[in-house]
Amino acid sequence: MEDGKILVVEDQDAMRESLVIAFKDEGYQVEGVASGEEAIQRLNSNNVYDLVVTDLKMKKVDGLEVLKAVKNANSSTEVVLITAYGTISTAVQAIRDGAYDYVTKPFRHQEILKAAKKAIEKKMLKDRVRYLEGEIRDKYKFEGIVGNSNAMLEVLKITSHVCRTESTVLVTGESGTGKELIARAVHYNSPRKDGPFVVINCGALPENLQESELFGHVKGAFTGAIRDKMGLFQQAQKGTILLDEIGETLPSTQVKLLRFLQDGEIRPVGGNKSIFVDTRIIAATNENLEKAVESGKFRKDLFYRINVIRIHIPPLRERREDIPLLVEYFLEKILEKFKKGKRVFSEEAMYAFMNYDWPGNIRELQNMIERAVALSKSEIINVDELPFPVPVEEFAALSRNPLDDERKKSFIVTTLAEQEKNAIIEALNKYGGNQTKVSQVLGISTTTLWRKIKKYRIKSQHEISDNVDN
Ligand SMILES: Nc1ncnc2c1ncn2[C@@H]1O[C@H](COP(=O)(O)OP(=O)(O)OP(=O)(O)O)[C@@H](O)[C@H]1O
Ligand SMILES: [Mg+2]
Repeated sequence: MEDGKILVVEDQDAMRESLVIAFKDEGYQVEGVASGEEAIQRLNSNNVYDLVVTDLKMKKVDGLEVLKAVKNANSSTEVVLITAYGTISTAVQAIRDGAYDYVTKPFRHQEILKAAKKAIEKKMLKDRVRYLEGEIRDKYKFEGIVGNSNAMLEVLKITSHVCRTESTVLVTGESGTGKELIARAVHYNSPRKDGPFVVINCGALPENLQESELFGHVKGAFTGAIRDKMGLFQQAQKGTILLDEIGETLPSTQVKLLRFLQDGEIRPVGGNKSIFVDTRIIAATNENLEKAVESGKFRKDLFYRINVIRIHIPPLRERREDIPLLVEYFLEKILEKFKKGKRVFSEEAMYAFMNYDWPGNIRELQNMIERAVALSKSEIINVDELPFPVPVEEFAALSRNPLDDERKKSFIVTTLAEQEKNAIIEALNKYGGNQTKVSQVLGISTTTLWRKIKKYRIKSQHEISDNVDN
């Protein structure tokens, strides 16, 4: 299964659909659009793609303009063009303008799949090194959010875009993946940061109080309403309200939310006047809202209003590369809190952390480290001191994806420097030791590359070419 998100831009329906299916079959996340205009719209609305595959010749906005939009967005997204015979010279020009590759019609699916795979590999490698270089890490840094997997990097990228907008945001992910943490980051890095951040778990509100808690009520609205009460939307005035477990809202509440999203007004229960409130909604859920819409539990029109920008946080088991960093982060924090002496996890303990499936995600990891540290008596914490719910030996057997070589490799906890070194070696080998090419691919200067090669004493399999040809 391949990893990555692709946008296919092609005005011929049959062609576009067959490409979308071909990419989907490989495991990619794919979206298809029928025009250059639509493509540019998606690119501008905070959609993050690894690759854009676009037809060159289209009415109005053509492939070259799509390419330009991608490059202007200053993203690392790669572009592969589809050209017809006779437009090859334009395609060559496009490569000069930054496209990764082109395929000529008619082509076999195999051909475009290969080009796409290579383009995405390049994009991810580039992101990785830029991240390690600190450029992306600093650009998308949020206090207290740890993670350097590609998946987390995408999450942080969208998050930082979202901070600059006023859009409604939907944060999805399993329990304990960090939805609230991300929502907080959005609020505290937005122009609303000096306003209140109000969190409400819609699933925890008694049904009969849901509307009055959110929108307030007037005196006498129901038995027990002895005075006017301000709702949470008003309390979040000039700030942000996080509606957690949004899927648990009642139909009547959903109508009110929709009205608010349409014209910014709410009406307290029992009141006859609408009140304008300036509050930004961030919604979160760990259930599948699309399914809730299908089954009629959640209003479709409200779903569309909420799902303007989606931040999906993948479960921890799908981004195991983040585990060592998280372990280190939590260990340090907990040692400080408990005022304990130095503690480290044994190699077997790390191995277990990397292999366990973490159904409770980061919260579970955090709790486990806290308990292990609290109970530990000596400096090295062994695997048998970790309160796993199943014996460690059973992980592999229980796991849906038994250990493969890739995962075994990732058990070796590498430092950032080692990761950087490996990325450089990988690129050098791939491009036959050509430093100019490698520095371009990695998005660093040839001098920086040269410095790093010396620093890490890298000797590539290929002789590193010293004649830098720029
Ligand atoms: N990337 C991360 N880096 C550091 N800490 C994290 C990260 N993600 C989550 N956490 C921590 O894990 C815990 C759970 O996160 P959070 O409450 O945001 O999850 P959630 O998705 O809202 O969970 P639930 O669905 O159960 O409400 C928190 O203590 C949070 O600070
Ligand atoms: Mg939460």
